Amino acid sequence: MTANTNDTKASSAKPSITESQAWQQLQAHFQQVQSLHMRDLFAADPQRFERFHVSLGDILLDYSKNRMTDETHRLLLELAQQAGVEAWRDKMFSGDHVNLTEDRAVMHVALRNRSETVMRVDGIDVMPQVRRVLQKMRSFSDAVRSGEFRGYNGERIKSIINIGIGGSDLGPLVVCESMKPYAQRGLNAHFVSNADATHLLETLKNVEPESTLFVISSKSFTTQETMLNAESAKAWFLSLVGNEKAIAKHFVSVTNNTEAAEEFGIAADNIYEIWDWVGGRYSLWSAIGLPIALYLGMDHFEELLEGAHVMDQHFKTAPLAENMPVIMALLGIWYNNFFDAQSHAVMPYSQYLRRLPAYLQQLDMESNGKTIDRDGERVDYLTGPIIWGEPGTNGQHAFFQLLHQGTKPVPADFLVPCISQNPMGNHHRVLVANCFAQTRALMHGKTTGEALEQLREAGLADDEINDLFAHKVFDGNKPSNTILFEKLTPKTLGSILALYEHKVFVQGIIWNINSFDQMGVEYGKELAGDIQGELSHRDQTECYDSSTNALINHRKDIYFRHYERRDYDKK
Ligand code: F6P
Repeated sequence: MTANTNDTKASSAKPSITESQAWQQLQAHFQQVQSLHMRDLFAADPQRFERFHVSLGDILLDYSKNRMTDETHRLLLELAQQAGVEAWRDKMFSGDHVNLTEDRAVMHVALRNRSETVMRVDGIDVMPQVRRVLQKMRSFSDAVRSGEFRGYNGERIKSIINIGIGGSDLGPLVVCESMKPYAQRGLNAHFVSNADATHLLETLKNVEPESTLFVISSKSFTTQETMLNAESAKAWFLSLVGNEKAIAKHFVSVTNNTEAAEEFGIAADNIYEIWDWVGGRYSLWSAIGLPIALYLGMDHFEELLEGAHVMDQHFKTAPLAENMPVIMALLGIWYNNFFDAQSHAVMPYSQYLRRLPAYLQQLDMESNGKTIDRDGERVDYLTGPIIWGEPGTNGQHAFFQLLHQGTKPVPADFLVPCISQNPMGNHHRVLVANCFAQTRALMHGKTTGEALEQLREAGLADDEINDLFAHKVFDGNKPSNTILFEKLTPKTLGSILALYEHKVFVQGIIWNINSFDQMGVEYGKELAGDIQGELSHRDQTECYDSSTNALINHRKDIYFRHYERRDYDKK
């Protein structure tokens, strides 16, 4: 272990956060405020929005529709202070090994550092290497987009297929999907991640090998799904092109394992480097963003970095009370740990952001889905929530019923642009109105009096009203944040993604967990390897529990019978 790591570890050995004064005070405070209704808080204080919102550039975070008072706000900020959020944030920005279990720095902020500031990892300024790779990405993406770089037979590249999974898929995917208006005509970006061959095969149906560029994205270059898809893509390509040399014009890779990529057959020049201080789910800012640069152009990729950098500077320098990621993190903790909210919903009122919930699922749940704290102890409080969501207005016609009248508390984020990328008739006004209407309805609810009045106005008879009115009452008091921004540009998107990254970081610090490893993913992978072996032979499997054995044996029966019959029929 380096001196860096030892320092970090020593300073983290502290009593549980639940024993801190701020936590205890929050617990007592919760008893006093849990029965308060936001409707009354708004009525009593016309300045509530003024006091509970914060802006950064074109992004406005309205957090006034939360079950909080000034005292809640104060105590939550104290919690952040007592948990050492500022000190840990500074450690991350200084390149300390805040990823304790893997003994690594966590420096994705260096990837989007647009200033001249030196950023060191283990004593070395990483900025020259970051800039070198960005330059290489620029040269290549410019060449592909201008047609200077062409396929083996001189065809222009029309399709980019990213093969990767997890952070090597979701980050570039959410950006490419969200930024479609900035894409170059005639260039398509596809993302293949699933081990199910359907994903690859259905994608290949839409492309021609001569005009396709595969980007094999894998930090480790060992991830099973990615390797499977990469090998199958190569086999598909060679079966149609029949020329090994053509691979150099159609396969590039982004990886930390250049040796394995070269062994796969990727030319050294076609390998884009990432570093061990870039975590998978924080990697879209690195060369893992190559599909973004290819699809949107390097200028737009750099605008995305700029937006993230603006959020980084805000996170680093704004006082906690005005710090957007800190505020969102603290409100999340308030609901997670004091209201026992099990999940957190994300509702983008933007079709372009439809994959944001999936991206945030990995970011948040892989980072903070932990039970063991930084000191190796089992936590006795809830950590990361279940993240889920769908774009509005679709969600309104699916699961919003539960948000309004269900029995489970679900705090939610609503994201909405003021200006549409696709102005058409009344669409955007309807979309925005629905977003604002939902947060208002969730907060305000509908009282018995209001429900009765509405039913009377509708002309219902008294007995009908009696039967119905209870179903028409909405408790309200359901919390939400609204993130309102001017337009979904690369810069704004960069800021929003970085906002969530830092939110997750702050929560991890307060819960005293390491947000930067993902050991839970490993166990399933190990077992899958063993079971794969079992599935390859006909003998009965008996080494697992009765359920797993039965499932394996059932599949073997059906599978082998299916193929035997097919072979028999062929004869
Ligand atoms: O799901 C586990 C994980 O390690 C993620 O953290 C990572 O983003 C993904 O697999 C892909 O890893 P790699 O880029 O090494 O293929």
